[in-house]
Amino acid sequence: MNILFISLGCDKNLVDSEVMLGILAKDGHQMVDDETMADVIIINTCCFIHDAKEESIQNILEMAELKKTGRLKALIVTGCLAQRYKEEIIQEIPEVDAVLGTTSYEEIAHVIDGILSDSPMERGDVRLIMKDVDYLPVTDTHRMVTTGGHFAYLKIAEGCDKHCTYCIIPKLRGNYRSVPMEKLLDQARYLAEQGVKELILVAQETTVYGVDLYGEKSLHKLLKELCKIPGIAWIRVLYCYPEEIYPELIQVMKEESKICHYLDLPIQHASDAILKRMGRKTNREMLEEKIAALRAAIPDIAIRTTLICGFPGETPKQHEELMEFINETEFDRLGAFTYSPEENTPAATFDNQVDESVKEDWQADVMELQEEIILDKNETMVGQEILVMIEGKVADENAYVGRSYRDAPDIDGLVFVNTDTELVSGDFAKVHITGAYEYDLIGELI
Ligand code: F3S
Repeated sequence: MNILFISLGCDKNLVDSEVMLGILAKDGHQMVDDETMADVIIINTCCFIHDAKEESIQNILEMAELKKTGRLKALIVTGCLAQRYKEEIIQEIPEVDAVLGTTSYEEIAHVIDGILSDSPMERGDVRLIMKDVDYLPVTDTHRMVTTGGHFAYLKIAEGCDKHCTYCIIPKLRGNYRSVPMEKLLDQARYLAEQGVKELILVAQETTVYGVDLYGEKSLHKLLKELCKIPGIAWIRVLYCYPEEIYPELIQVMKEESKICHYLDLPIQHASDAILKRMGRKTNREMLEEKIAALRAAIPDIAIRTTLICGFPGETPKQHEELMEFINETEFDRLGAFTYSPEENTPAATFDNQVDESVKEDWQADVMELQEEIILDKNETMVGQEILVMIEGKVADENAYVGRSYRDAPDIDGLVFVNTDTELVSGDFAKVHITGAYEYDLIGELI
C-alpha cells in the first residue's frame, strides 16, 4: 500500500511515528508524500495546547474529505488527540476508519490489514485500539529515522508522574516508565550504524530516568554507556526538571566529551507563588542554586528554558518578577508560550484567568528581553572558532546551515557557514564566527 504519514506534535511523538514507519516498511508498505497518491493516510496527532489541537483536527478533516472521494482506502488517527478524544473522533468523523491510543502504535500494520479486509467483523475489531495508558510499547523493529539521518531522538521514557496543574500529558501518556537501558543501547547502536552522529535524549522528563526500573536515577549511567558507542559524536539531553538535576549527572556531563554542554531546563516561571500554583516542586531560590551549580561546574554550558506567560492568577508584579529573573539569569536559549487552559486539568478551573491580550503582551515582553540578552551573548561569539554540525546547504549560495553544541534542532538558533568547499549533512566543520544576529550566527569555514 502507498502510505502518507503525517506526524504532528513533539519529538516524543515523532519517535512513535518513526517506530510506526519502521513497522510499516517491514510489512512491505511504501511511503508517499502526496496525499492524492496515498491508499492509506495515518495522522499521528498532538493536543497539548489549543493550537496543536486545532492543527490536528484540521488535518483530520482535510484528509476526511479525500476519503469521501473514494480514492483513499483508509484513514487512521493515532497519538495524543486520538487518546483524548477517541469517542468524539469515532462518532463525529465517520471517514476515520481506526483510532489508536498513545500506547497502541505497535498495532499499526495489523490495523491496516483489518481495515482493508473483506470481513466487516475484522474492520470493526480495529476501529478503536486503546491499550492501557500505562503500557510501555518497546518494539524490536527498527525505526525509520525522518530527521535527515545525522541526528535522531532517543525516547528514554514514556509518561510523567509530575502532574503539574496545567498539563494534560499524564492523562494522555500515563505514568513514568523508563525504557530498559539495554533496549536503548540497542537502538542507539542501530542508529549509529545508520549514520546518526547526534543522539538527542527525550522524555516528558529525562532526569528521573531509571528510578522506576533500577530504584535510582540512572541517566548518568545511560549517558556513560551511550558515549561508548562508536560513530556517536554528540549526545544532547532535553527536558530536565530543575529539581531533579543531581551531582552524578553534572559530573558525567563534565567528564564525557561527547555530551554536549547544553541542558534544557523548562522552569515555566520564577515567581514562588506561581510555581506553587503550577504544582512545580521548585522555587526561585532553588532555581538560582541549580543554575549556579551547573554554570560553576560547566562554565561553557548553554542553558535553555521554556516559560508560560499569563498563568491563572498571575499578577503584573509576578510577571515583573519573572522579567527580573530572566534579566539576572541570562538564559542562553528561551522559549515563551501563553498559558492555554486545557480541559480536565486543575489550572483550567482556577480563578482569575488572565486575558488573552495580557498573556500575549507578557509573552512579547519576555521574548523582547531575551532577544537583547541573546544578541549580547551572540556578539561575544564573534571572533571565536566553533564546531558546527552541518544540516544542509543554503539554496543558490555558497553557504551551509548548521548547529553548534549550543543549538538543538528546530528550537534553537542556526550557524550559517560561508564556504566554497562541498559539505554534506552531518559533517562537522570548524567555523570562524564573523557576525551575530538575535538567534543565529554567521561565519567562515576554517
Ligand atoms: Fe503533543 Fe502529545 Fe507531545 S500532546 S506535545 S504530541 S506528548
